[in-house]
Amino acid sequence: MDDKNQMTAVYPGSFDPPTLGHIDIIKRATAIFPKVIVAVLKNPGKKTTFTSEERLSMLRSAAGQEKNVEIDSFEGLLVDYVQKKNARVIIRGLRVISDFEYEFQMALMNRKLYPHIETIYLMPHEKYSYVSSSLVKEVAQLGGEVGCLVPPSVEAHLKLLFRKSKP
Ligand code: PNS
Repeated sequence: MDDKNQMTAVYPGSFDPPTLGHIDIIKRATAIFPKVIVAVLKNPGKKTTFTSEERLSMLRSAAGQEKNVEIDSFEGLLVDYVQKKNARVIIRGLRVISDFEYEFQMALMNRKLYPHIETIYLMPHEKYSYVSSSLVKEVAQLGGEVGCLVPPSVEAHLKLLFRKSKP
């Protein structure tokens, strides 16, 4: 593993769908790391609103043009994927204190599995601290305006999805 690869950071998540909070974290990560891989969890056992192809496509539209960003998907253990990519940093976003417990557990479990991989937390802009994929979906489903909380490609997907589901 050379120094350049060691400075690759993997930003994993469900991104179901990506929000402007996620995009904010991607931009912050690219300001620090020479390469950022946004890794979409592709878990056949986990029910998601959007398919992994849709989540990848929404991320590519919203962040694929960022310098040094690669959009990819992974299955299985995150730490195995990080190893495969010759990276040693995992990026996660921390919005509010209630995120902390889950994040702390995951970071320590990942450290137990691969002690040389570090998890680094970035805080999105405070205007996104209340934004989550699940709330965005709920609001969109009930006809609320989410255009200021998600990238345009995601807004379009949400409109299509919830228009389809209306009787
Ligand atoms: O956006 P999310 O749903 O909070 O992301 C969670 C994610 C994808 C980072 C986590 O579920 C994960 O890493 N899954 C892969 C399986 C794995 O490695 N599990 C052990 C984590 S300690």
